[in-house]
Amino acid sequence: MRITMVGTGYVGLVTGTCFANLGNEVTCLDVDPVKIDKLKAGISPIYEPGLDEMIARNVKAGRLHFTVDKAAAYASAEIIFLCVGTPSDARGHADLKYVLAASGDIGDAIEAAGGETGGDPGERRAKIIVVKSTVPVGTNAKVREAIAAKTGKPFRMASNPEFLKEGAAITDFMKPDRVVVGVDDEHGTGGRMRDLYEPFVRNGHPIYVMDIPSAEMVKYAANAMLATKISFINEIAALCEAYGSNVDEVWRGMTSDARIGNKFLYPGLGYGGSCFPKDTLACVSMGSESATPTPLLQAVHDVNQRQREDFFAKIVKHFGGESNLRGKAFGVWGLAFKPGTDDVREAPAVTLIEKLLAAGATVKAHDPVAHETARELLGDRITYCDRPMDTARDADALLICTDWPEFKQPPLERLRETLAAPVIFDGRNLYKPAVMEEAGFTYVSVGRRAVNAPAAG
Ligand SMILES: NC(=O)c1ccc[n+]([C@@H]2O[C@H](COP(=O)([O-])OP(=O)(O)OC[C@H]3O[C@@H](n4cnc5c(N)ncnc54)[C@H](O)[C@@H]3O)[C@@H](O)[C@H]2O)c1
Repeated sequence: MRITMVGTGYVGLVTGTCFANLGNEVTCLDVDPVKIDKLKAGISPIYEPGLDEMIARNVKAGRLHFTVDKAAAYASAEIIFLCVGTPSDARGHADLKYVLAASGDIGDAIEAAGGETGGDPGERRAKIIVVKSTVPVGTNAKVREAIAAKTGKPFRMASNPEFLKEGAAITDFMKPDRVVVGVDDEHGTGGRMRDLYEPFVRNGHPIYVMDIPSAEMVKYAANAMLATKISFINEIAALCEAYGSNVDEVWRGMTSDARIGNKFLYPGLGYGGSCFPKDTLACVSMGSESATPTPLLQAVHDVNQRQREDFFAKIVKHFGGESNLRGKAFGVWGLAFKPGTDDVREAPAVTLIEKLLAAGATVKAHDPVAHETARELLGDRITYCDRPMDTARDADALLICTDWPEFKQPPLERLRETLAAPVIFDGRNLYKPAVMEEAGFTYVSVGRRAVNAPAAG
């Protein structure tokens, strides 16, 4: 099929490349000429394991193209996927400005091109506009209106929320747990979407075709559930700290109950990234707009915000007050919001570094892949180190913000000798408190006893 992906971010670029990899003719469109120039030069603007090779292979095969030319990209497509960002606006609502701007462009293109694919004369079917961005219920209807305002020619709509995870995006998309498609004509549009996804669901993974409002809600419900799990375990971790329980033991005892399961229940600095924070808030906004209170999801958000505050408070407490952070040097391991990605949007590391800098501390940080993206937010206010150990040199404490595998078994003796003071604040619970105690560290983590910490007062 001839497909145009609108937006070459984490979703559009990965899914477009995967569609091309199965033989489709894919054009990736973006309004950012820098991204498109990079892609044309064979450089991926994002880090995603396996993506560079897959892009190169499909470009070489002539199936994957990059462009800023909207009219051409829309005119040639049978299926157009909207994959533009839907960030939170100032009130926490999903901001639809990119979605609606692209919809207007699509309307213009359909009007100019005639509204049908123009391909095989036996197959003159209207274009399908698929909303893949995460959007509030009712957005497909707004997209339809925005396009219809520009053209009276036929087109079809579908909702197809995306569930890929950054860091495992290719595998998630190629072997999805499920594909969700919302349509208002089950056989026509539904049938064409089933055909498109058939190779992805061959291994028995289901494709669920449903009405559009339900498909739109599935994505929010899934992300709200995952965010809830994280805030839940973080709240339990706080109780563990208050009562001297060890959250690792509590986790073991609790998650062996098959009804609970052990996925996505790790205590830490809370969730970040470009999805959970904004999608949880968007659910709360949908609730207030429809006079449907969502106190649970508001609490999920509040707990997540508090998690970072509480962790910073532990640092402050260790140094005997925020004013004592002035002039202190911190090493930071991990900038990305999670391992496997260079995405630093809403990353706990960024929040904590901003707080340290505001208090007058200095920061040297290392992340295996996220220096460039972090520099866009933090500029040269921190030092970026090529090796983790370089951040520790002469530092008054080390702060661990992302659970990259390479941080899991550091040479503890060398680390202790490199730090000016053997103090670690571990926001990801990478090490066992007893091991760190034995190794002579002051070690503060989440939901477990702090070891070798100076006595209170
Ligand atoms: N990142 C994820 O892990 C993930 C997973 C599932 C769903 N989603 C959802 O998918 C959507 C996209 O997320 P993302 O992380 O890929 O965003 P992103 O910010 O990485 O990329 C969006 C891209 O769209 C481009 N763009 C904006 N307006 C455009 C227009 N009119 N025409 C063409 N391009 C345009 C931007 O330049 C940018 O490159 C969001 O709604 C998000 O919630 C994201």
